[in-house]
Amino acid sequence: MKAIKVLTISGSLRKASFNSMALRTAEALAPEGMSFTHADLHGLPHYDQDLRDVEIPAAVQTLDAQVRAADAILIATPEYNYSIPGVLKDAIDWLSRMPDQPLNGKPVAIMSASMGVMGGVRAQYHLRQSLIFINAHVLNRPEIMIGSAHERFDTDGKLTDAMTEKFMREQLVALAEWTNRLRADH
Ligand code: FNR
Repeated sequence: MKAIKVLTISGSLRKASFNSMALRTAEALAPEGMSFTHADLHGLPHYDQDLRDVEIPAAVQTLDAQVRAADAILIATPEYNYSIPGVLKDAIDWLSRMPDQPLNGKPVAIMSASMGVMGGVRAQYHLRQSLIFINAHVLNRPEIMIGSAHERFDTDGKLTDAMTEKFMREQLVALAEWTNRLRADH
């Protein structure tokens, strides 16, 4: 397989985040040829056109460079009040206003983890909706909603659920195929 550089973005800032655990797990399960870099949304300001007009904030410039350098993006997001966390929306809003918008045409896969049984499905569909507008190419299937996340990871952050592991492996293979297919179109 041609090498694929994946940038992971967690929609959660907290250290013990299940979504960040899911992304670290994905890295460990990934097929050969996939390498990973992790974005850090700490320090990302709210989108503010006035800030942008003076100087694009350093945290935004870093994220923009990471997205540009990546062949594919893997996002894991919590659901906050039936939608995506503000920090993840801010990240998308900033990126959408960068010159030569970096998510345009970029392959993206999505996961969500929640302590609720629905696994963050409502947030996933809000995320997909925003990504449509900026023309990211979001992988349709498999969808991964990790419900009751606190029962599927142990206290060390290790995934303990075989079914979730199977879906994650399948999604990573599908993301690799999707990325290669989109590359071939260019
Ligand atoms: C939540 N949580 C939550 N869960 C859910 O399934 N649907 C929801 O709408 C919400 N809403 C919500 C709002 C806010 C402000 C918080 C802080 C939490 C619970 C959430 O899924 C849970 O805290 C996850 O563990 C958060 O993901 P991380 O931080 O573990 O990745």
